Amino acid sequence: MNAKLTLHKEFSIGETDRRVFGSFIEHLGRAVYTGIYEPGHPDADNDGFRNDVAALVKEMDVPLIRYPGGNFVSAYNWEDGVGPLEKRPVRLNLAWAAKESNRVGTNEFARWAKKVNAEVMMAVNLGTRGPEAAGNLVEYCNFNGGTYWSDLRRSHGVADPHGFKLWCLGNEMDGPWQICSRDPGDYGRIAAEAAKIMKRIDPSIELAACGSSFPRMPTFGEWEYTMLDHLYDYADYVSLHLYLANHNADTANFLAASLEMDSFIKTVAGTCDLVGAKKHRKKKMKLSFDEWNVWYHSNEADKKIENWNEAPPLLEDIYTMEDALALGCMLITLLKNADRVKVACLAQLVNVIAPIVAEKGGKVWRQTIFYPFRDASRYGRGTVLRCPVKVDKYDSKEYCDVPFLEAVAVYDQEKNTIALFAVNRNLREDLQLDAEIAGFEELRLVEHRVLCGSDLAACNSANSENIKPVAAPGGSLEKKPGSQRLNIALPPASWNMIRLEAVIPGTAL
Ligand code: AHR
Repeated sequence: MNAKLTLHKEFSIGETDRRVFGSFIEHLGRAVYTGIYEPGHPDADNDGFRNDVAALVKEMDVPLIRYPGGNFVSAYNWEDGVGPLEKRPVRLNLAWAAKESNRVGTNEFARWAKKVNAEVMMAVNLGTRGPEAAGNLVEYCNFNGGTYWSDLRRSHGVADPHGFKLWCLGNEMDGPWQICSRDPGDYGRIAAEAAKIMKRIDPSIELAACGSSFPRMPTFGEWEYTMLDHLYDYADYVSLHLYLANHNADTANFLAASLEMDSFIKTVAGTCDLVGAKKHRKKKMKLSFDEWNVWYHSNEADKKIENWNEAPPLLEDIYTMEDALALGCMLITLLKNADRVKVACLAQLVNVIAPIVAEKGGKVWRQTIFYPFRDASRYGRGTVLRCPVKVDKYDSKEYCDVPFLEAVAVYDQEKNTIALFAVNRNLREDLQLDAEIAGFEELRLVEHRVLCGSDLAACNSANSENIKPVAAPGGSLEKKPGSQRLNIALPPASWNMIRLEAVIPGTAL
């Protein structure tokens, strides 16, 4: 099968905000305890954080980590997680029916985030708590000193404010599963009042308002419209969440589901613009896709887990080659919407629906989905180029006109390089890609790395890394007047990263 695409240096979608390569750590399952934090593990540092886990987080180059939830935050008293360890209460984690020891809280997490070179995206509880507790947390974290909450932080041994810049106004408040869920008007009003207090304390912060928990929520659209009516002037982002699943073993349909992510983004952006137009505002609302991934493998196992234990092994999906392709399509979709999506968090990071698995007392290893994320995070920063594609399409059970090729290109002006990310959705045939690249200096092919395998159910484990990227045979780059033509084969059912660089910087074609 053949595919054509065209790139031009001058035709771009927008800049990738580095924060789209964010991730998420929630007090859920073994994400924190026996995930990032395991005192007594041979690889633990003096604070109890595992160096081997931190090394893989750094390898993924994650600039932003959302914390502490997720559903957890809607019943969390942040005050439980600060101050002397011996005084911290053990509480019920109501969201996940587990025990929370509070040995890790805001200050410990901030220390860990620094260690892995990430900024924290903090969340406030707008379920059981409200505007006052949210404001107190901002004061505790971001105010210099000389007030009750900022001095409390200092008395806890943290002299300098954390300066967290990005905050979530609650989590999935539209969902009936959420502790103290709300209707959109109720949420909009409470969140606007919380936002006023939070920004009064620190005007430099940015706030993400809860959007719909997923696009098939019965209240989708109405939720965004109504809550934004209250929050448009206070929020900087609307948050989106989406998890894909292949419950019916229908690969073609599963790989097509990123189309739903694309239309979700476009519909939420449109709704934001509608509210902005109604209010006669110039401001353009940004989007924060702060939970996205594949999630379904662990659903049945989770039903058997006993309640009220500490760090139960919840949501421990083991990912397949097929999942890596679905995740690749989602990543490309996020990049193709770089003009609106400024923040995104792969949910989650360690053990819980995660690219990194940390065995209790044992090894740490990379899941299949680790690799597309690492490729995009390392090489996907720069100017996202428009990437029109001509390729055959298919219809699946739920989606029509699904292109066999999903692709996006990012141009890094500083390094004078182009990274092309592509998924071949054709499960049987190579895609012979013919890419016309215009407006660039003479290029050379640096590498073509591919993640593929005939067994789409193949997974990795602590002892075997079956699925990892390998060097592909490469392709040809032909010079034409005014453009260059790349011919390259993309194997069936594959994630591809093709990198090009200018041969002699400064020599325009
Ligand atoms: O990431 C797991 C859970 O999924 C989060 O806690 C919640 O926000 C979402 O429903």
